[in-house]
Amino acid sequence: MEEKFEVKPEDVELESATFKESTARSQALWEDLPRNPGKYRVLTGERPTGPLHIGHLFGTVANRVRIQNLGATTFIVIADYQVLTDRDTADSVSANVHEAILDYLASGLDPENGRTFFFSHSHVPELNQLLLPFMSLVTTAELDRNPTVKEEIRAAGLRQVNALMYTYPIHQAADILFCKGNVVPVGRDQLPHLELTRKIARRFNERFAPTTPIFPVPDALLSDLPVVLGTDGQKMSKSRGNTIMLRMTAEETAKAIKSAKTDGERHIAYDPQNRPEVANLLRLVAICAGETPEAVAERIGDGGGGKLKALLTETLNAYLAPLRERRARYAEDAAYVRSVLRKGVERARQEAITTLKQVRKAMNMDHGLD
Ligand code: TRP
Repeated sequence: MEEKFEVKPEDVELESATFKESTARSQALWEDLPRNPGKYRVLTGERPTGPLHIGHLFGTVANRVRIQNLGATTFIVIADYQVLTDRDTADSVSANVHEAILDYLASGLDPENGRTFFFSHSHVPELNQLLLPFMSLVTTAELDRNPTVKEEIRAAGLRQVNALMYTYPIHQAADILFCKGNVVPVGRDQLPHLELTRKIARRFNERFAPTTPIFPVPDALLSDLPVVLGTDGQKMSKSRGNTIMLRMTAEETAKAIKSAKTDGERHIAYDPQNRPEVANLLRLVAICAGETPEAVAERIGDGGGGKLKALLTETLNAYLAPLRERRARYAEDAAYVRSVLRKGVERARQEAITTLKQVRKAMNMDHGLD
């Protein structure tokens, strides 16, 4: 790996300062959102690299549903181009986009409300065109410093870094700003990207639109939900084979939970520091049952790992049953799924065309044609 892509102590320091500031702004947002949902435009999304698992569901998707239901307009980008940052095949992208939409619909994101839109990156050319002016607002040194990009390069074991990997944080700024998104529900790993988006919005306004700013400076909305670990106690991720996916059957879920790592101690107690695997299973029961992990532990007492797993299987399957039922129904109707995507793309394009016109005008590039 090239030396410049190694994570340095100053990256970590910067990250933690950003985290503190973002946390404060995020808390203020959580308070204002229920009062003034109409003020907010939410943009978030993910790469279509595989089906959603319960880590996504409890970590980010549940929050999106919560915000949507408060009344905010919600755009979900399915970042298909971004798949090519760390791999060179796009073979399963289309199938993954379809699966992602099924997972969103199953989780309760609802385009029928007229305020929630799913769109694929590749179908909104005017959004992508914002990348060029935005590139002029960022230095290569700033791109070199991005800790999340460095981490992804490390995790994928890349020996060469393609220019899409290097520049995708700018692309992500375009994803957020094309629709004037001002709230971005993301995990901590995405904060460096959001910081860059904020810089781009400010710099664009200062340089090209000082009297009538075009872009909002968006805030991250951080989750107060606990991090869900995989069945092996590591970060839940498809490549580790430790996930419980929304689309699994109840039997497959039972099997995955059966194989989950616990420890030898018979007495079950909530001790995240010393017993992270058991704590993770307890938290999952707690989320599904609306209890505290401590109360769940007390209920199990000396029942051991076996009883904990049986309880989790029962509670999680009951929690997921209505979602899975909905998912199965939508899976029967490919035409509906396509129509939802088409409508989302249409709306995203309208937004992008309007914004691009404003951008061209501000940059003295409309040449009397717009
Ligand atoms: N980078 C995000 C991920 O890997 C996906 C993403 C693309 C995104 N564009 C975005 C997230 C804009 C938030 C806002 O999951």
